[in-house]
Amino acid sequence: MRPLSMDLSNFRSYLSESIELTALKVALINGRNGNGKSTLIDAITFPLFGRGSADKIDDYVTLGKTDMSAALSFELGGNTYRVIRNRTTNGRGKSSLELQQLINGEWESKSGATAPETEERIRKLLRMDYEGFIASAFVVQGEADKFSKQKPAERKATLANILGLDAYSEYESQAKEKAKGTEVDLKVVRNQVQELETRTANKPTLEAQLVTVEAEIVSIEDQLKEKETALNQLIEKRANLQAAEIRIMDINTQIAGIQKEINDLNNQIPLLERKTSDANKLKDQIPSLEKRISDTEKLTANKDKIISSANEAKVVRGQISEQDETAAANSELELERSKIQTEVTKIDGLIYQGKSKLEANIQNFKIQIKNAKQQAKPLEGLECQNPTCQLIKGAVEARDKIPGLNKQLEEETIKLDTGNYADELKQQKEALKSKLMEIDIQIEILEYDQKSHQDLKIKLVDLERYERLAPALENAEESKRLAQDQIDQIHTTIKEKQDDITEQINQINILIKAKQDAITGFELDKMSLEDDAKESVEVSLNITTLESQIRILREKLGNQQAARGAIRKSIDELTELDVKLIDSRTKLDSLAADLTDWNDIARACGKNGIQAVIIENSIPEIEREANNLLARMSSGRFSLELLTQKPSKTAKVTETLDIKISDSGLGVRPYETYSGAEKMMIDLAIRISLSKLLTRRAGATIRTLVLDETSSALDAQNRSQFLQIVNTLREDFDLILVISHQEDVQDAFDQRIEVYRTDEGSKARVIA
Ligand SMILES: Nc1ncnc2c1ncn2[C@@H]1O[C@H](COP(=O)(O)OP(=O)(O)O)[C@@H](O)[C@H]1O
Ligand SMILES: [Mg+2]
Repeated sequence: MRPLSMDLSNFRSYLSESIELTALKVALINGRNGNGKSTLIDAITFPLFGRGSADKIDDYVTLGKTDMSAALSFELGGNTYRVIRNRTTNGRGKSSLELQQLINGEWESKSGATAPETEERIRKLLRMDYEGFIASAFVVQGEADKFSKQKPAERKATLANILGLDAYSEYESQAKEKAKGTEVDLKVVRNQVQELETRTANKPTLEAQLVTVEAEIVSIEDQLKEKETALNQLIEKRANLQAAEIRIMDINTQIAGIQKEINDLNNQIPLLERKTSDANKLKDQIPSLEKRISDTEKLTANKDKIISSANEAKVVRGQISEQDETAAANSELELERSKIQTEVTKIDGLIYQGKSKLEANIQNFKIQIKNAKQQAKPLEGLECQNPTCQLIKGAVEARDKIPGLNKQLEEETIKLDTGNYADELKQQKEALKSKLMEIDIQIEILEYDQKSHQDLKIKLVDLERYERLAPALENAEESKRLAQDQIDQIHTTIKEKQDDITEQINQINILIKAKQDAITGFELDKMSLEDDAKESVEVSLNITTLESQIRILREKLGNQQAARGAIRKSIDELTELDVKLIDSRTKLDSLAADLTDWNDIARACGKNGIQAVIIENSIPEIEREANNLLARMSSGRFSLELLTQKPSKTAKVTETLDIKISDSGLGVRPYETYSGAEKMMIDLAIRISLSKLLTRRAGATIRTLVLDETSSALDAQNRSQFLQIVNTLREDFDLILVISHQEDVQDAFDQRIEVYRTDEGSKARVIA
């Protein structure tokens, strides 16, 4: 860091001032006390760190003003930066900070999101904090002994700060952070490894199982192949047998068909035979035809008789006709007679009825009389005949009826005895009897002879038989010849039909014979096929057995394949896990290595590691530089020694940075025992050597030395020696600012900033 310019506004005693430092190399800031010299150092530290000689931030605002601004531009690592820090006391007060970098002639903001972030960026750029600054290169007013008066441990911390060891501390904490993270990862991966190891431990068992299962599968597959081959052979055989069975069925059908044809043919024979007998039936006609011939012959022989009989039949027929008339008249009379006879019989009945009625009446009266007498009987010898008595009354009335009844009986008895009844009927009977006698006379006159009438009729019947033959006589010869022809025809027909039928039967028999031969052929085929078919049941049985065996084997195979699949899957999973395990182990190893590395790095970067080494290595250099300066300032009187370790009571080594100062005349004695000027020489020697160290450290950032009123306490000779020494340091620093109010130091510097006061606040004039 090399300051280039500063722009101040209401900054402490400065109201408005811009100071150009570019041209300066080793410059004296000169002016009276209170003019604003030390304020220019604040103008460097305040923008950079927000700190300086004042206690509170508002103290940097000019009294009576509310808004302050301090801008510092500087060169660092070949770049130009600018820091602007503002403060307003208005209200509760407000600060702002801006970091900029000059890029291609333009200021670009490099600020963070917040002021603390920006401050952190500045600190990182400078690689040092305010405390490090004022303990080393910035020897602010009254703080020259800042390092010397520090406790040994603080001193070491300052040295570490000067040496930029906080970077290593940063590395250490980063490495520790990494180590911590790595440990967490390590724990996770170690658990993973353990889990994977537990899980993959089962793999050999599974692999052994797989071998067993695969062997079993091969054996089952072999068995299956064997059985399936056998089954296929049997199925083929069965197909052949089934074809044979079908062929047998076919033959049976054919035999049945032929048998039916034979039967049909056989059935035709009786039909044909019947036709023969039908033909023979024609013979039945022959006797009637022969009879006709003989009848015709007979007719011819009785020719005369037939003719005379025919003539007589005519005569007799006339006689019968006459007789028929007489018979009719006679039967009419007979009918009349029979009617009358019936009438007579009827009248006889009626007469008899009259006699019967009379006899009944007589019998009735006799009973009435007898009853009356019986009723009147109690009256015999009886005195009292009072009719009022009911019993007596009836008896009296019965007795009184008897005489009447006797008279009626007598009258009726006379009628019966004399036959004096039914007179009219008897007269009608007599009339009818005379009619009968008349009819009898007429019948006698007719002289009808029933016997001769009957005989004529019989005779006619006989005659009519000849009479009927008469017409036949006329074509008798023709009829005889026809009959003879018919007979001859019948014989011929019968002969023809019989020949035809015999021929047909012969043909049928030939057919039957052929068909029976065919059946015999089929039967032979069938027999040989049936011999084969006998095997069919056994084959089917074997097929069923094989099929069920195959089914069982397939099931077994399926189960084993499933088991194999499951085992393979498990093994695959475990193989994957093995890969993962290897990965995890590799990761574990690498993490363990990382952890070791990070721990090593942390240790290496730690206070006891590289930091200690750097400090140890820096000590002789500081000592050499400091003793060189001190010897020149004290004319070889003083020398110092820095001790970084001392054994403690507990035999441990205590980290420390002790300063031992030797006075050439008096040996080693404590710092406190030296005078103020002596102390100042010692302080400056140490501070300058530290500042030089700072310029040589890696990535040297602070190449500015500030010495505020450090020579004031020295006597003139020492002061002059000191100022000469400062001038010799010009090659070591980019800028050296020496502040002094003393006027006698002016000659020692070619370049100056004169600080003075005006009504417009402090002013600084650069004389280069
Ligand atoms: N906030 C302020 N407002 C006005 N003046 C101030 C303020 N702070 C300090 N001062 C004055 O500025 C002057 C410069 O002080 P300083 O730079 O220490 O002087 P020196 O030149 O002696 O180093 C002093 O008189 C001091 O009282
Ligand atoms: Mg001062």
